Amino acid sequence: MSALTKSLTSSGWRILAACARQYSSLTTELIENMDKKATWDRFYTETNSKAPAFRNFEWFFGFDSVQDLILPLLRTGSRPDGLLQVLDLGCGTSALGPSVYARCSLPVHVTCADISPVAVRLMREQTAARSVRPLNLSSRLDFVELDCTQLDTRFAADSVDLILDKGTTDALLRSREGGGKADLLLRQCLKALRRSGSLLQFSDEDPDARLPWLEAAAAAACDQGLAGPRVAVQEVGELRGVCYYCYQVTAPPTA
Ligand SMILES: C[S@@+](CC[C@H](N)C(=O)[O-])C[C@H]1O[C@@H](n2cnc3c(N)ncnc32)[C@H](O)[C@@H]1O
Repeated sequence: MSALTKSLTSSGWRILAACARQYSSLTTELIENMDKKATWDRFYTETNSKAPAFRNFEWFFGFDSVQDLILPLLRTGSRPDGLLQVLDLGCGTSALGPSVYARCSLPVHVTCADISPVAVRLMREQTAARSVRPLNLSSRLDFVELDCTQLDTRFAADSVDLILDKGTTDALLRSREGGGKADLLLRQCLKALRRSGSLLQFSDEDPDARLPWLEAAAAAACDQGLAGPRVAVQEVGELRGVCYYCYQVTAPPTA
C-alpha cells in the first residue's frame, strides 16, 4: 500500500473523501495538495454552496472530544495581567476556536487563523449570525486570513499561550510538496509560544512517526540557544476504528 493510499484509509481522510466524493477532481486535488490555499478555497466554496445551510466542518472530531485536554491548560497564573492568547492554527470552518471562546471561564483572546479567505469569511459570517457569546465577558474572538508558515508577521515571539492544531500539520505533512511547510510551521509555533505555553497537535499519525519529528525540532531549538521544549503524547481515543493522539509541545518556563 502506498503512503498516499494508506493515509487515505484513516478516518479524517475518509470523512473528507466522503464530503468531496461528488467532486472527483476536487478529491484528487485534496489528496496531493492540502498545503495549497487554492485547494482549500475550492473545498470550502464547493461544500458550502451545495449544502442547504452552513455546518461546521470538523476534521477528525469536535471540541467536546478534546475539551478536557484544552481547558486545563488555560490557567490564571499564566497571564495575570491580561487575556490568555489562544491560536487555532488552520481553523477552517471548525467550531474549535469559537468553543474555547464560549467555554473558557478565564479571559481569552482566541485567534482563528486560516490560509483560506473563504473559510475565514464563512466563519465570520456564521459567528455573527449565531451571536456566539463568551463565558467571560472580557474574551475576544477573531478570524484572520493568515499563512501560518509566516506566524511571525502577526504574532511576536514569546506571545501565545496555547496553539491548537487539529489536522493542519497533518494536511501539510501528507501533501506532495508540504513537508518543508510543516517544518516551517512547527518552527514558527515554537517561536511564537510563551514560556510554559503549549502547542497541541491533534493527529491520527502514529507516535513512531510523529514523535521523532517533534523531538528533532525541539533539539534544533536547543541548538539555536533556546531552552528545549518538552514533547509528550497521549491518546485522545478511538473513533470509527481509528486511534487519535494529542501531541503536546511545551516551552519550558523562564529560568
Ligand atoms: C485538515 S484541515 C483542518 C481544519 C480545521 N482545523 C478542523 O479541525 O476542521 C487543514 C486546514 O489548514 C488550512 N491551511 C493549510 N495550509 C495552511 C497555512 N499555511 N496557513 C494556515 N492555514 C493553512 C486549510 O485551509 C484547512 O482549513
